[in-house]
Amino acid sequence: MRDFDLVVIGAGPGGYVAAIRAAQLGLKVACVEERATLGGTCLNIGCIPSKALLCSSEHWTELKHLGAHGISASEIAFDLSAMMARKEKVVGDLTKGIAHLFKKNGVEWLAGRGSIPAPGQVQAGDELVAARTILIATGSDSAGLPGVTVDEEVVVTSTGALSLPQVPGHLVVIGAGVIGLELGQVWARLGAKVTVVEYLDRLLPGADAEIARTAQRLLQRQGLAFQFGRKVEAVTRKGAGAVVTLERRDTGAAETLQADAVLIAIGRRPRTAGLGLEALGVALDARGFIAVDGQFRTNVPGILAIGDVVPGPMLAHRAEEDGIAAVEALAGQAHARPDYDLVPGVVYTAPEIASLGATEEALKKAGRDHVVGRFQFIANGRARAMGATDWLVKVLGCAQTGRILGAHVLGRNAGELVQELALAMSAGATLAQVAAASHAHPGMAEAVKEACLAALGKPLHA
Ligand code: FAD
Ligand code: NAI
Repeated sequence: MRDFDLVVIGAGPGGYVAAIRAAQLGLKVACVEERATLGGTCLNIGCIPSKALLCSSEHWTELKHLGAHGISASEIAFDLSAMMARKEKVVGDLTKGIAHLFKKNGVEWLAGRGSIPAPGQVQAGDELVAARTILIATGSDSAGLPGVTVDEEVVVTSTGALSLPQVPGHLVVIGAGVIGLELGQVWARLGAKVTVVEYLDRLLPGADAEIARTAQRLLQRQGLAFQFGRKVEAVTRKGAGAVVTLERRDTGAAETLQADAVLIAIGRRPRTAGLGLEALGVALDARGFIAVDGQFRTNVPGILAIGDVVPGPMLAHRAEEDGIAAVEALAGQAHARPDYDLVPGVVYTAPEIASLGATEEALKKAGRDHVVGRFQFIANGRARAMGATDWLVKVLGCAQTGRILGAHVLGRNAGELVQELALAMSAGATLAQVAAASHAHPGMAEAVKEACLAALGKPLHA
């Protein structure tokens, strides 16, 4: 039986990064992956293909709005199959890149399904290998709606919605979360009528309410329709499409929507089935995530777990950071458990919605004495020059110390702009320190400086 210091199960951003870092630290490492390509959900059916389609569909929308720049184009058209082929190429290049990184760093890819028949052993496809430590990084799957059958053609998860062969006439999206908004926007831009149905009375639960309300208005302006406070009773295939039966939560009245396609996007669930965890006695929490300590150790010695399969934000960068911390701890290196309160979340719609740290509601609820600074892009020179005036930077700081407690950006490149505040927050910097840093002009990041100045009561351009 071949033996390894570390066997990682799952080659998503958590698993593949952990495997590479462990090999760099001198461990003999193998990574079991059952998919034909490496990179996990993120590269194959998640972050990357969704961003490729968001980019292509955004170009298409922009083409139709270039008149203000004095540019006109006639006979513009898009070819959906070419758009999909580009997406596949982006994915293929990146997943091959991971295979190259495995070779370069001496990580062995064991192709096949992984399970743990006994502590210290991993079944990898047909091969049984010995492992001093096992790291579970099996990620997550789309959550299902009870009684609803997904066929990935008409009733789809995000995976099917990334590869629809034609633009649906009417796409009903169930869930106004990250996937619903991103993929809803892709198909709306390409011409579908899109109705987003949500159980709660708002989109993006967990995001700052002011930002979510403003984002909703902007998305509605671009053609997305929202129906809040709806409970989905049934999704039934009918002819070439489907019927969605809803119950209004306020009145109890029944409603139906005729759809050409239905996207179920109501969250993701940890993927633990078939690993043999029950027999091993690996503890799960009440929601089915693998319970771990500060060094990502499960309750069974020699078995670690990271990423979407353990509690925390279900994001690729968080999975990577978990993986690095876990193997550095294993190798006896100095390490810190990632601080999940400092993990930025970005919805890559236009405008982008970036969130970090506390929301205003959370600070109010906690009775925390705080200051708020806002700066709208409409008063930013670069945003004006680019026609990217939707919408604002909002920062929240401690009223006593000036430490930054939360940052929320809604606008073009919000995901990049929030990084400055992520660094500031992780370094414990204050509003005054960010405001004192030189910000190149004309730059959208000047809005970050201005929001900090506003929070300090010293706004310049507002
Ligand atoms: P995964 O990426 O899910 O990888 C787990 C891997 O394990 C998979 O390859 C799977 O095949 C393999 N596996 C599972 N069980 C076994 C087994 N028994 N044997 C062998 N292999 C196994 N996050 C962001 O940060 N930014 C985004 O823009 C973003 N966009 C997303 C868009 C979509 C449509 C979706 C669905 C998700 C998106 N996410 C995004 C979330 C992100 O993809 C996940 O948080 C991330 O992939 C989790 O990484 P992971 O390594 O924990 O698991
Ligand atoms: P989500 O948790 O973001 O949103 C799910 C939405 O569905 C919520 O608004 C919830 O209230 C609603 N919902 C739940 N049950 C419902 C029901 N029965 N009927 C109607 N609405 C219902 O989950 P989503 O969008 O599926 O994404 C899953 C995860 O993938 C996210 O948590 C996120 O971490 C990750 N992701 C990240 C992206 C990014 O970082 N840009 C992009 C896409 C996904």
